[in-house]
Amino acid sequence: MQEIIDIINKANYEYYTLDKPTLTDQEYDRYMQELIKLEEKYPELKQDNSPTVRVGGTVIDEFVKVKHEIPMLSLSNVFNESDIIAFDEKVRKEVKNPVYVCELKIDGLSVSLLYKEGKLIRGATRGDGVTGEDITHNVKTIKEIPLTLKEPISIEVRGEIYMSKHSFEALNELRKERNEELLANPRNAAAGSVRQLNSKIAASRNLSNFIYHLPNAMEYNISSHYEALNYMKKLGFTTNANTKRVNGITELLEYINYWTENRHNLPYEIDGIVIKLDDINKQKELGFTSKYPKWATAYKFPAMEVLTKLKEIKFTVGRTGQVTPNAILEPVRLAGSVISKATLHNEDYVKMKDIRVGDIVSIIKAGDVIPRVEKAITERRTGEELPFEMTSICPICNSNLIKKDAAYYCKNPLCDAKKIEGLIHFVSRDAMNIEGFGENIIEDFYNMGYLRTIPDFYTLYNKKEELMELEGFGEKSINNLLDSIKNSKQNSLDKLLFALGIRYVGSKTAKILAHHYKNIDSIINTTYEELTSIKDIGEKIAESIINYFKDEENLSTIQKLKELNLNMDILSEEIKMNVEFENKTFVLTGSLENITRDEATQLIEKNGGKTSSSVSKNTSAVIVGTNPGSKYDKAISLNIPIWTEQEFLEKIN
Ligand code: IVH
Repeated sequence: MQEIIDIINKANYEYYTLDKPTLTDQEYDRYMQELIKLEEKYPELKQDNSPTVRVGGTVIDEFVKVKHEIPMLSLSNVFNESDIIAFDEKVRKEVKNPVYVCELKIDGLSVSLLYKEGKLIRGATRGDGVTGEDITHNVKTIKEIPLTLKEPISIEVRGEIYMSKHSFEALNELRKERNEELLANPRNAAAGSVRQLNSKIAASRNLSNFIYHLPNAMEYNISSHYEALNYMKKLGFTTNANTKRVNGITELLEYINYWTENRHNLPYEIDGIVIKLDDINKQKELGFTSKYPKWATAYKFPAMEVLTKLKEIKFTVGRTGQVTPNAILEPVRLAGSVISKATLHNEDYVKMKDIRVGDIVSIIKAGDVIPRVEKAITERRTGEELPFEMTSICPICNSNLIKKDAAYYCKNPLCDAKKIEGLIHFVSRDAMNIEGFGENIIEDFYNMGYLRTIPDFYTLYNKKEELMELEGFGEKSINNLLDSIKNSKQNSLDKLLFALGIRYVGSKTAKILAHHYKNIDSIINTTYEELTSIKDIGEKIAESIINYFKDEENLSTIQKLKELNLNMDILSEEIKMNVEFENKTFVLTGSLENITRDEATQLIEKNGGKTSSSVSKNTSAVIVGTNPGSKYDKAISLNIPIWTEQEFLEKIN
């Protein structure tokens, strides 16, 4: 029996770790069958970590909680080149010429594996990082995870359990045949598999594993992450062959670009690239925040896609009265957040894409933007999906909708939904920024009659005693709320303009208007011609503004707000001297995302600084966007501080 166990373990090592198979599948199966037979015949000789545990069969009653001696941290995220540069810059503050290890970010779930004297004794999920769950019985079925190490040492390693694209597709094929619900993506499938009480199920799922972290490297006399990976490979673990050690940012960006292009050719899903500082002593110096190591980060691919089920299409009414279809989704993780809802825009969008209730749909999220339903995966249809029907009545007030272009509108001025949406918009961050009002509070206050129109916010203090009695509120929270409302009276005109919810007037247009007209009365009295003469104000916006200020009810709202002492002017634009900029010289390089170069230059000047086109030792800081040029390298060589766009904007405040 021991002989066969050794042969099977060696074959596994050669197949998974070295990627050099020495036994044929038939030979492997024959050894396995023989071992199973022998174990049945001599159960007292069966070893705990015999390779036959791979076939599963252990059933547990419940998942036991386990504590991670060293917390299992997750990684901070970066989304673009300038974030990566900022990360590099922070590392450079502590480490000269850092060497990084770049790894694929495997889209699965992390696992901690504990070995005692060379034997696998525990596999655990991450859980909340401190407490996870014991999944040893399922971990033992994963062929890449050695049950016995090459050396009889005690060690904890960490890595990712995942399901290959191929196994995922095969699994869904099978589920389809059996009329079982299809799984949304490999990550969910892998997570669901290790959450099974009976290890036969995990065994049948063909899970895989890569190991990428050795928490106590120092104890094994290892001083670099790359060495740690090699050491773990020598012990029998499967490490990822695409890992690369790089010198400096250029090579790092090359690695990222290569995998952004080629990731779809991999047999498993990855959702980014992990960048780790190689030197473990330096890792220690950089340390951790409460959540993340400061010596590593994860670059997330820009447009990310996940599949999930569209459970229902629900209609909502916005403050303009437009009725929008929304996809209610089986919750799914995408770019670090859980998505359960996504807009479907309008009838044409849904019909053009032929999205049906019950479809498996792909959701994509580019950078930080709102996720959208990209397409229905028609190959996954079962025939039970329901074609989309646009509603003809308002979901809130039941009045008939009116169609204009691609959109349907509820024209009932008394429709509650529009009013509630309008009030929610009024307090939102880019509008009046009144903190403490969640959507639910506004809805409750509306339904209880405290808040029906915008001016009601500013008379709420009259109801203070009553409000304090409401469930979930106390004197402190009501005081905070009322203070926040009071403070908003001092907001600049642009915030108020945006908050009023004039159609097509977004926060940028509101700023342009405020800047041009300086006070609200000038806007009320303006003409269509004057509006359209302003750069960036088109006919549609102009028409909407004119219509808004013709409406008696809107004018009376503004009148009431004036009487309640709300500021209606643009607040002073005078140059504020800012110590970060005063008498300093800046160089811009690379493309900026949120502002143009001209705007950046203006901002620097307004804050008391000046710009120059070349880097010298007199440069105070170089502001870098994406694809920075040689100015960036020069700044590094001259030790000039580097600011990312984000840091620049923060300093400008
Ligand atoms: S390193 C302290 N390396 O990504 C080191 N994580 O978003 C922590 N992941 O929880 C992890 N591939 O589940 C690391 N090559 C890789 C990874 C990786 C996937 C996962 C892991 C982690 C999550 C963080």
